[in-house]
Amino acid sequence: MIRSVVHGCGAYLPQRVVTNDELARKVDTSDEWIRQRTGIRQRHIAAEGEFTSHLALKASERALAHAGLKASDLDLIVLATATPDETFPATATRVQSALGMTNGAAFDIQAVCAGFVYGISIADSMLKNGLASTALVIGAETFSRILDWTDRATCVLFGDGAGAVVLKAEEGKGLPADRGVLANALHSDGRQHDILYVDGGPSSTRTTGLLRMEGKEVFKHAVVNMTAVVAEVLEKTGLGPGDLDWLVPHQANKRIIDGTGRKLGLSSDQVVVTVDKHANTSAASIPLALDTAVKDGRIKKGNLVLLEGIGGGLAWGASLIRW
Ligand code: ACO
Repeated sequence: MIRSVVHGCGAYLPQRVVTNDELARKVDTSDEWIRQRTGIRQRHIAAEGEFTSHLALKASERALAHAGLKASDLDLIVLATATPDETFPATATRVQSALGMTNGAAFDIQAVCAGFVYGISIADSMLKNGLASTALVIGAETFSRILDWTDRATCVLFGDGAGAVVLKAEEGKGLPADRGVLANALHSDGRQHDILYVDGGPSSTRTTGLLRMEGKEVFKHAVVNMTAVVAEVLEKTGLGPGDLDWLVPHQANKRIIDGTGRKLGLSSDQVVVTVDKHANTSAASIPLALDTAVKDGRIKKGNLVLLEGIGGGLAWGASLIRW
């Protein structure tokens, strides 16, 4: 059995920090409302001329350095983003060229806030099938470019950033001791398009469009779907919530994160939370949170880590990884 084993991770946040108070000077909101409803205190916003590929490149360089690998060791880049530099080619190919990687393939995937979990699942399948041996999975976004900065119900929720992990195909011995990706579960439900979407695109309007969301509806689906997909991915391995060391959820809202942690019976210090500092960075949120908890020493080699996320589509999924 081939396992996709994590060899390193990295992350990057744009320099500029925008606090809730700063936003409250532009739209009719308050630090208190944002903190109470979401847990968000601040977000990082990309500079003029700083694109998704630039953030992705910096996170990738850090992940490679952490793994002790070079770009020439890679033969796969999977980049999850809903905010590519251009409609085509894939932002992943910009990162590929900037890294100096010439082997294998680099492509983008689009599952919005579930993008990183989709990326892990795709890379894991490719490594298991012998299509690649060393993969960089990136989540990178500049959501600030698709926000309606006059809509207080959405513009306060998002931020920019990038995170990446390096996976290498290695021979495993069997569950439950194996390191690497142990199981994945993916879902989508296109009937829920209208509760979270961008009102433009190259084919429909020839514009980029802006994010539109019915937050309350998304919230309801998030709680139900996260609980179900987490149970599903654990069931695939025969492991239970009691075996988990860490939950690293998509960082959209502290209340959704707390609800999922409680349903799993985890204590709050087993749940990695970065939404307060990063806000919702869509596909970047899980790898940013992972990197935070790995670099501050919480997540250690051998720990059982559960990733889960939901976003526009709706699309959602979970991955169980022995770090
Ligand atoms: N500041 C002050 N008041 C506000 C703000 C704001 N920034 N935004 C909305 N309000 C007001 C509304 O107008 C409303 O006022 P009203 O009662 O007078 O009509 C009131 O606050 C309540 O609004 P709700 O939308 O009902 O607030 P809710 O408690 O549902 O919180 C929130 C909104 C934070 C968006 C929440 O629903 C949420 O987190 N939803 C989930 C979002 C999510 O998980 N997204 C993940 C996927 S993202 C992706 O895929 C790109």
